[in-house]
Amino acid sequence: ADVKKIAVIAGDGIGPEVVAEAIKAMKKTEEVFGYGFEFEHGLFGGIAIDEKGTPLPEDTLAMCKRSDAVLLGAVGGPKWDNNSKELRPETGLLGIRKALGLFSNIRPANVFDCLKEASTLKPEVLEGTDLIVVRELTGGIYFGEKFRREGENGQEAVDTCVYNVNEIERIVRQAFEIARTRSKRLASVDKANVLETSRLWRETVIRIATDYPDVELEHVLVDNCAMQLLRRPASFDVIVTENMFGDILSDEAAMLTGSIGMLSSASLGEGAFGLYEPVHGSAPDIAGQGIANPIATILSVALMFRLTFGYHDAAEAIERAVKEVLDAGHRTGDIAVDKSKAIGTTAMGDLIVNAIRK
Ligand code: NAD
Ligand code: IPM
Ligand code: MN
Repeated sequence: ADVKKIAVIAGDGIGPEVVAEAIKAMKKTEEVFGYGFEFEHGLFGGIAIDEKGTPLPEDTLAMCKRSDAVLLGAVGGPKWDNNSKELRPETGLLGIRKALGLFSNIRPANVFDCLKEASTLKPEVLEGTDLIVVRELTGGIYFGEKFRREGENGQEAVDTCVYNVNEIERIVRQAFEIARTRSKRLASVDKANVLETSRLWRETVIRIATDYPDVELEHVLVDNCAMQLLRRPASFDVIVTENMFGDILSDEAAMLTGSIGMLSSASLGEGAFGLYEPVHGSAPDIAGQGIANPIATILSVALMFRLTFGYHDAAEAIERAVKEVLDAGHRTGDIAVDKSKAIGTTAMGDLIVNAIRK
């Protein structure tokens, strides 16, 4: 059989806890659908700093490069928060995205009907919400030159934001292509009233839009978008935006679904290869307690099946299993209205795994 090589980098905090549940779901699809996976584990993030002196060891990167897809938990934690830039878990995360050419970060936020009560927003506002944030992932202020200098009034810090037209064009084209497969509405989010990078962004979007006359395009300034996401979430279909705006807006979009513990993501380049991870971080406040919601990571596996492997049957089976378990009323603490009835990470994982069937 065609065995797919999966590089697993569980990382820190709740990373290993949620990744374990995602692997269980993958193994279940081997039984049910006959797919084959070979898992290889590597050190990454804070744990790699502790054990290897660097957040992204060479052999971990090599392992990812020879794999068909990467499954990532999360990195970071207070232990490493005061480290220098080179010895920060987050630097490893940016490094792996760049090294693997993963410029496109797809973050779907669709609201499960039965979770409307879990959101902090009114259920009627959420009705019909099903959107995708397409976030540029290897450019902008995250990757521009950064430095400190002595200014006239003491220390100064500089972060530069750079985008070239190719970087904008490739992510915008992907977003238009995705919009075409959905409701054919694209919102391009920028800050073109202030930023030069945003003006180049908008010009590029307008030029590329001529190739997609069937997609309805709107330009939204990022501050207004942050507000509209809460006011009229259901009116959005695909949102495309630069790196930092996408980071912020996708955490905001998470609350439409009830919890950041629900939001999955795919990071892609030009080909089928991808890195799959939950949108949330290592959640140091709940790490080690066995209470993290594994659904974001499990749904990231469904994205992997769909986008990298074309295993649509297994992707659907996972999504159906998640819905079935939620419909039956099972909740981890983050999405539970009655917190006293909340179940743990492993129990939630087991229920979902058991519900995966043809
Ligand atoms: P976070 O996403 O880790 O946590 C924010 C809040 O959401 C916390 O209260 C946490 O308990 C809760 N939460 C997150 N995931 C959850 C889950 N699966 N189930 C239940 N509750 C969940 O963000 P933060 O606290 O700002 O960051 C913590 C660390 O994680 C930092 O070091 C940060 O740099 C890192 N981080 C890493 C990634 C990543 O690896 N991709 C993403 C975001 C943050
Ligand atoms: C994310 C995270 C990362 C980001 C951090 C941890 C570097 O917040 O994946 O959303 O900002 O991209
Ligand atoms: Mn983030």
